[in-house]
Amino acid sequence: MDKIIIQGGRKLAGEVPVSGAKNAALPILVSALLTEGTNTFRNIPNLVDIKTARRLLHNLGVRTEGNGTVRVDATGITSCEAPYDLVKTMRASILVLGPLVARMGQARVSLPGGCAIGARPVNLHIKALEEMGAEIRLEEGYIDARARRLRGARIYFDLSTVTGTENIMMAATLAEGTTILQNAAKEPEVVNLADVLIGMGARIAGAGTDVITIEGVPRLHPVEASVIPDRIEAGTFLIAAGMTGGEVRLTGCEPDHLDALIVKLRETGMTIDVEANGIQALGTRRIASVDVKTLPYPGFPTDLQAQIMAMMTLGQGFSLIAETVFENRFMHVSELLRMGADIDIQGNRAVVRGVPRLLGAPVMATDLRASASLVLAGLAAEGRTDVSRVYHLDRGYESMEKKFAALGADIKREKA
Ligand code: EPZ
Repeated sequence: MDKIIIQGGRKLAGEVPVSGAKNAALPILVSALLTEGTNTFRNIPNLVDIKTARRLLHNLGVRTEGNGTVRVDATGITSCEAPYDLVKTMRASILVLGPLVARMGQARVSLPGGCAIGARPVNLHIKALEEMGAEIRLEEGYIDARARRLRGARIYFDLSTVTGTENIMMAATLAEGTTILQNAAKEPEVVNLADVLIGMGARIAGAGTDVITIEGVPRLHPVEASVIPDRIEAGTFLIAAGMTGGEVRLTGCEPDHLDALIVKLRETGMTIDVEANGIQALGTRRIASVDVKTLPYPGFPTDLQAQIMAMMTLGQGFSLIAETVFENRFMHVSELLRMGADIDIQGNRAVVRGVPRLLGAPVMATDLRASASLVLAGLAAEGRTDVSRVYHLDRGYESMEKKFAALGADIKREKA
């Protein structure tokens, strides 16, 4: 297994391009299942999860070609099954459930199983499809769903669920009648998907608010569309600038998607200047400790919690970090402690007492965003940090070590 080796202590400086958003690209690639003919999707990031999604689509008989700009043709679907060996490597595979039932009248999708950051059930996806008339059986670890034709329904999500909203929104585009999603997720990735579906001929109103209305149509047609920039990758680089006291300019990003983070980083003492598609960030020598509570969008993103915690380990005081979205998303804490951080976990809250410095150490990644926080800690620490199991990182970050090296970091990947 590859590892990343960092000699910390360098200020980052320079310009870095932001890649397409993983969590928008995944549902958008899957949305092609709803159409016959060739869709063209631009700004698809080069990530392990994208490769997994394309393998899953190929399994279903879908043809994909190209990199960066990807053409997807789902004219001839030959299977409606998403097998466990693929789903267990990427939970977002559940996104094929709604489109397959809507287009083919059936789907057999493995239940995703557990995950490092929490149980992450898909009960809300299943319940909503049943309310739309699907007959669903859970057997042998699979979701077996059938519906001659889904019918529109008024659906209330007990929890704001991103892929739940996306799954049901896609299913509803071909249902008989109107579907209303209440307490829908408002993430920019949901809006990006809705815009793509509308481009395919779907009739959707309210995406980006907590009530989305979808009026079913008989069929959808292929579309050309672009994936939005990755706000989590962008946020990760802004925090890196803050932790190293550097000056970094992000290009090709969407600042409007990062309000919650930008407000917090300014409170830490950073100078953040926002441009049309760019952000200029200037780190500060003394990092003020700030409190953070993760919430569904537009709240502070749970996917940046591990990264901001790494920054708070170097704060001037105490920082209280509350994780309200997932029940076990503090796996990075034990590794940060090994680098000299002072963090005390109390249930879903972590009290971070700032220390003068972190010291490099061998650490192990456990999940995607935890691995990013360990890289950030290594960039700011004194001495050498080896981050192992970086396959977690490769799922959601395109060439992270190359982008940091281009900003002046002493960082390299050692092939196992
Ligand atoms: C999406 O996951 C993202 N993944 C996650 O990003 C992100 O952390 C999460 O949304 C929250 O923003 C993709 O978009 C591919 P949820 P998702 O359904 O949709 C509970 C990353 O690092 N829940 O919004 O799986 C669930 O357990 C990944 O890029 C149910 O109980 O998250 C969680 O506590 C990690 N039942 C909460 O809701 C359900 O049926 C929010 O989950 C569905 C969800």
